[in-house]
Amino acid sequence: MKTVIHLDTRNSSYIINVLPTGELLNLHYGRRLRRMEDYYPLQPKNHIPYGDMIYTDPKQPYIGLDDQCLEYSGLGRGDFREPAIELSFSDGSITTGFLYNSHRSYKGRTGIPGLPSALGGENDCETTEIELCDNEKRLVLTLYYCVYHDCDVITRFASLKNNSGSHVNLRRMMSAQLDLFDHDYSFTTFDGCWACERNRNDRVLRTGIYVNDSKTGTSSSRHNPFVMLIKNNCDEQQGVCYAFNLIYSGCHSEICEVTYQGKTRLLTGINPSSFNWVLEAGESFFTPEAVLCYSDGGLNQLSQNLHDFVNNYIVRGYWQKRERPVLINNWEATDFDFNQAKLIKLAKEAASLGIELFVLDDGWFGKRNNDKSSLGDWYVNEKKLPEGISGLASEINKLGLMFGLWVEPEMINEDSELYRSHPDWIIHTPGRKPSYGRNQFVLDLTLPEVRRFISDTMAQVFSQAKIQYIKWDMNRNLSDMYSGALSPERQGEFMHRYVLGLYEILEELTARFPEILFESCASGGNRFDLGMLCYMPQTWTSDNTDAYTRLSIQGGTSYGYPLSTMGAHVSASPNMQTLRNTPIETRFNVASFGVLGYELDLTVLFHFDKAAIKEQVKFYKKHRRLLQFGRFYRLSEPLDKDKVLWLCVAEDKKTAIAGLFQGSAKVGLGYDVLRTDGLEDKELYKVSGRKQYISVKAFGNLVNRVLPVKIRGDGVVHTMLSSRYMFGMVKESYQAGGDLLNNCGIKLIQQFSGTGYNENIRILSDYGSRLYIIASMEE
Ligand code: DGJ
Repeated sequence: MKTVIHLDTRNSSYIINVLPTGELLNLHYGRRLRRMEDYYPLQPKNHIPYGDMIYTDPKQPYIGLDDQCLEYSGLGRGDFREPAIELSFSDGSITTGFLYNSHRSYKGRTGIPGLPSALGGENDCETTEIELCDNEKRLVLTLYYCVYHDCDVITRFASLKNNSGSHVNLRRMMSAQLDLFDHDYSFTTFDGCWACERNRNDRVLRTGIYVNDSKTGTSSSRHNPFVMLIKNNCDEQQGVCYAFNLIYSGCHSEICEVTYQGKTRLLTGINPSSFNWVLEAGESFFTPEAVLCYSDGGLNQLSQNLHDFVNNYIVRGYWQKRERPVLINNWEATDFDFNQAKLIKLAKEAASLGIELFVLDDGWFGKRNNDKSSLGDWYVNEKKLPEGISGLASEINKLGLMFGLWVEPEMINEDSELYRSHPDWIIHTPGRKPSYGRNQFVLDLTLPEVRRFISDTMAQVFSQAKIQYIKWDMNRNLSDMYSGALSPERQGEFMHRYVLGLYEILEELTARFPEILFESCASGGNRFDLGMLCYMPQTWTSDNTDAYTRLSIQGGTSYGYPLSTMGAHVSASPNMQTLRNTPIETRFNVASFGVLGYELDLTVLFHFDKAAIKEQVKFYKKHRRLLQFGRFYRLSEPLDKDKVLWLCVAEDKKTAIAGLFQGSAKVGLGYDVLRTDGLEDKELYKVSGRKQYISVKAFGNLVNRVLPVKIRGDGVVHTMLSSRYMFGMVKESYQAGGDLLNNCGIKLIQQFSGTGYNENIRILSDYGSRLYIIASMEE
C-alpha cells in the first residue's frame, strides 16, 4: 500500500505507513528526513516467517504483527507485546483488528471532550487524524497527531466510537504507542515520594517489560508521567533522546517493552490497572493527550523544547508568560497558630523586604486549629480573623501586597459540619470502613452534587475579598475506590471519572476567575503534571524546602517542566523537613531557579537575614523574566548533587545567570569551572558574582582569621556581630568571550582550603553556592 503520512517538526519527522495487511506501521520517528518519492528504504522487508509467527492474511504469510513497529496494537492477532488497546465485547471475545481506513490533515486542532488539552490555533499547529476500523465489530478508532513545529513536539490522543450496536468494555486504551526499531536506550523516569519528588532514575534497557505508573488517583510523587528514552551515549549537551508526557492528573502508566529481536515499545496513557470503561452503543471515548518530543541535541535541548511547549501551549490565560509575584506564605512560619495581628506583622515585614504577595495558608476556616477538623467548612474562623478574609485582605492590600488564600476543596474531615450533613459524600466502598489519610477523606467527585457544592462554595470563597492568588491543595491519595454515582459494572470507571470531575470544576472556576493566579499543590508535588498546569500556571514543587534536597527535586523536575511552573521557597534554617542548616544565600540561590517565595517567620529574623533577603528580592525582581522564562541548562553531572551548575540564558543571549551549588566542601577539590552553553560565541561577556554575604557565625572559633578585630569565637560579641555584620563574599569579576565560556569555561578563583584567608578566596563551605551574572559587554 502506498499510503504514507509524513509529519515534520523543525528538527524531527514522524512517518507512518500502512502494512499490506492494513495495520498502521511506524516507519520513523527521529531526525527530520526529507519527503521521498518512495519510502521503500524505510520499510521492513519480511520475506520469511519466524518459526512461531502468527499471520493474519494467508496472502501475506511473511507479515507477523509481533515483530513490526506498529502505531497502535490490540490483542488477539499475533502481536504478543503490551497492547495499546484492550477491549472485551458483550459476546465475551477480546480480539480486535483495527485497519487503516482514511486520514485527513488540517491546520489547528480540536479539543478533547471532558479533558484539558494543549492550546493550538491555526498558526500554532497542524493536525492529522487517521481513522482505523474494526470492521467485524464496527468500531472506529481515530488517532490524532498534532504537530507543534517550532518546539519539536507532536501530541497524540485517540478516540474510539462504538458503532457495534451493543456495549464494549474498554480495559485499556492508551494515548500513544511508539515502536522504535532499536533498543539501546535508558528508560528514564522521575521517581520519589512525599518531600522527595521527581528524582531522575535511569534504567539501561535490556529485554523485558518496564512499568512506570501511578495508582494513587493523582499523577503522583512516586512516578511522574514524564519519562524519557535516552540513547546510551546521550548527555545534557548532545545525543538522541525522546520525551513522553501526559496531559493528565490521575493514574497513569508508561510501559516500555524491549523484545528479544531488539525493538522498543513505549506506551503511555491511563493506567489500565483497575480501569474498565463501559462504552455504550453509539458512544465515544477519548484518551488524554500524550506529548512526544524528539531531540538529537541532548537532554538540555529536549527540556528546552518541552519548556517552550508548556509555556506556550499548556499554561494559558492571564498569567501565561506573565512574571509571577514573589510571595510570603505563612505555613512554615505559623502553622495553624495565627491571628490577624500575627499575620499583619508578618505581612508588614514582607512588604518592607520588597515581597509582593501574601498567602494565607491552611487554618483560616471552620474550627481548624490542627489537621483533624473542618475541611469542608469553608467559612472564616472569626476567632482567628474577626474581620473575616475581606478585612484581612484589605489590611494586607493597604501594605501594598496582593492577597492569596489556601484551599483544599476535594477533601473533608470527619469532624466537620459538611461530613455531619453528608457522610455519603466521601469516597468509600459500601460495607467497608474507609481508610484515613492525614485525618481526612476524599470527596467523591463522581457525584454531580459534590461537584456543584465545590464549585459554588469555592466561587463564594474566591469572591469574599480581593483574592489574587489561590493555592489549591490536595493532601491525600485515593483509597476505597468506589463511586456512589455508578452501577457495579461501571466501578472500573471510577478513577478516571474522579479526574474528569476535577477538571469539570477547574474549568468552571478558572473561567469564572480568570485573573486569579492558581498554584496547584498536593502534599507538595504529588500532582505536578501537565493536566493541572492547564488550569494552574504553577505548582508547589515539594513540601521539602531544604535547599540541598531541592537541587535534585528541582533539577529532576526541570527535565520536563519549565522554571515558571515550579514554586520554590526560602525557608528557615535548620530546615523543617531535614533539620539541615544551609546558608540563607544558598536557600535563595536554589529557589531563584523557580518561582520565588519565602516561607518563614520574617518577624524573628536578625538584621543579617533581613538585609540579605531584601537584596535577594531586589535581585530576583530585576532578573525574574530571565529566571522564570529563560533558556534553562543543566551543566553538571545528573546524579552529582555535590556540584551542581545551572544556567538561564535570555532569549537574545545578552544576559545569563549561572548558579553554582556545592554539597559538602572538600579540601583540594575547590577548583571550580564556570561553564556555560547557548551564549553567543562571538560576544564578549562580563561575569560577576552576585553580591552575597556570609554570617560570621559560620567561622566559629576561626572568626579571627577572617576578621581584622580580635573577638572570642562563639562568644557574646561574636553572636551579636553575626546578627548584624554583613560579611561580604569575595568580589568575583571576569571577562570572557562566549566561545571560551561555552567551550572551556572560566577557572574560578580557588575555594577556601584550610590554610588561611585573603580577598582572593571564595568561601563556599558545606552547601555553599554562588550566582553569577553574565552580561554582554556591548550592553
Ligand atoms: C500541604 C502543603 O504542601 C503545604 O505547603 C501546606 O499548604 C499544608 N498542606 C497545609 O496543610
